[in-house]
Amino acid sequence: MSFLQSRSRLVKLCVVSGAVTLVTFMVYYYTPVHKFKSYSSTIWLQNFTKGSQNVDEPQDLVTTMTATLIKMLQGSTDMKPHNVTADCNNIWNSCRPKNCSKYISQSPEKRIRDLLSPKLTLNDQDRQLISYLSYLIPENDVIFATATSSNHYDETQAMVHSLHTVVYPRVQNMSIVLLDLGLTQEQRQKTEKSCRCQVISFPSDKVPSYFKELGFCAWKPVLIMACMMKARKSVVYQDASIYWKDTIVDFLDRGDKLGLQIWGGVGMHNIPVTTLKGTFDYFGEEPCAYLNYTSLQAGINVFKQTPFVVRTILEPWAKCALEPDCICPGCTKNHLNCFKPKKEIHMCHRFDQSVLSVITTKLFSYERYRFHMPGSDADDGRYVTINRGQKKPNYFN
Ligand SMILES: *[C@@H]1O[C@H](CO)[C@@H](O)[C@H](O)[C@H]1NC(C)=O
Ligand SMILES: *[C@@H]1O[C@H](CO)[C@@H](O)[C@H](O)[C@H]1NC(C)=O
Ligand SMILES: *[C@@H]1O[C@H](CO)[C@@H](O)[C@H](O)[C@H]1NC(C)=O
Ligand SMILES: *[C@@H]1O[C@H](CO)[C@@H](O)[C@H](O)[C@H]1NC(C)=O
Ligand SMILES: *[C@@H]1O[C@H](CO)[C@@H](O)[C@H](O)[C@H]1NC(C)=O
Repeated sequence: MSFLQSRSRLVKLCVVSGAVTLVTFMVYYYTPVHKFKSYSSTIWLQNFTKGSQNVDEPQDLVTTMTATLIKMLQGSTDMKPHNVTADCNNIWNSCRPKNCSKYISQSPEKRIRDLLSPKLTLNDQDRQLISYLSYLIPENDVIFATATSSNHYDETQAMVHSLHTVVYPRVQNMSIVLLDLGLTQEQRQKTEKSCRCQVISFPSDKVPSYFKELGFCAWKPVLIMACMMKARKSVVYQDASIYWKDTIVDFLDRGDKLGLQIWGGVGMHNIPVTTLKGTFDYFGEEPCAYLNYTSLQAGINVFKQTPFVVRTILEPWAKCALEPDCICPGCTKNHLNCFKPKKEIHMCHRFDQSVLSVITTKLFSYERYRFHMPGSDADDGRYVTINRGQKKPNYFN
């Protein structure tokens, strides 16, 4: 792997690529959640994301989800595990710790029980926020979700051009949802006119203040959850740097068959070097247990609309994003910087990406590799090309 490539893999795959900007959110009148009662999405959210009081007893839920997990781990996948052999003396890549006091539980039931615990379950206020956003999203089979801000406007136009020319002709019953994290009024108008997509915004007074630090990407899991409420089949999340190929249908089929597709490239560093200790504490995990797993990229993924994916991955991810002690434990903007000469555990933090890495590794443990995207170890892979900084400044004019 070339230096350039490994360095580019370090850049946080997020719409703002490490730049941290303060934006003024557009202020929307906040509709109380009871006004949405007639929408199926609200019922759906209650059925699958509440502690499931009305549907299942908690133990039933644990049993059901554990059975689903075991079944998923028996399905066929053409992926192979990463073979980690390095010791942890030069800490950066995946390595085998000599002694670790607590490894990831090998009991699927314990792992599921942890991920369904109250501290990782959305409360009423969280659900109102997600309902509010989902109310702005039209229902469709497949929803492509992405976000933009004014300094990424030209890149967003190039990305939407790729969606229009590559994805639209090949995928039926799909739509794009674009989260506006700070477009100017003029950019927003042009986008709404030309993007053939739904542009939505957060209610500024209903999100934690650190949602405004766009580089933290706390908005991402919340956006994905809101889209999931309106997706009949799946949600595809993509950053502005992702360009599709004519293999898109195969990729979606893979997500549909396996339940999810995550990017776990073999060249990535391990999880604890780019994840603060407080995040592990929130999940009740020991950082050293995660040293031999690569960090995921959170800039592209496919999530199938199933109770399992929603309850055991998306809900803990969204809940964590809404809890500063989980996504941002004592964090500062300085924690975004992973380009430090001295490599050490917890040296920086990848926010949304750190959390998704912990959740999926905890959930699938050694078998997480089954859900990795195949052929994606290079920036020009089987399904997508990562191309940062590509611009089409006049596409929306
Ligand atoms: C949600 O639960 C209600 C009542 O238990 C049921 O009638 C409805 O079909 C469920 N909705 C979905 C989307 O599963
Ligand atoms: C890891 O090792 C196993 C057994 O030796 C082998 O079958 C597999 O191909 C290896 N995986 C990779 C990605 O090299
Ligand atoms: C990580 O370490 C654990 C415990 O030694 C082991 O079971 C697991 O296979 C390792 N994972 C990888 C990806 O090598
Ligand atoms: C590793 O083992 C040594 C000696 O047994 C012990 O002092 C140390 O605390 C252990 N480290 C961890 C992370 O368990
Ligand atoms: C798209 O939606 C229409 C109407 O619901 C349906 O008849 C058609 O089969 C769908 N196409 C695909 C590829 O799912």
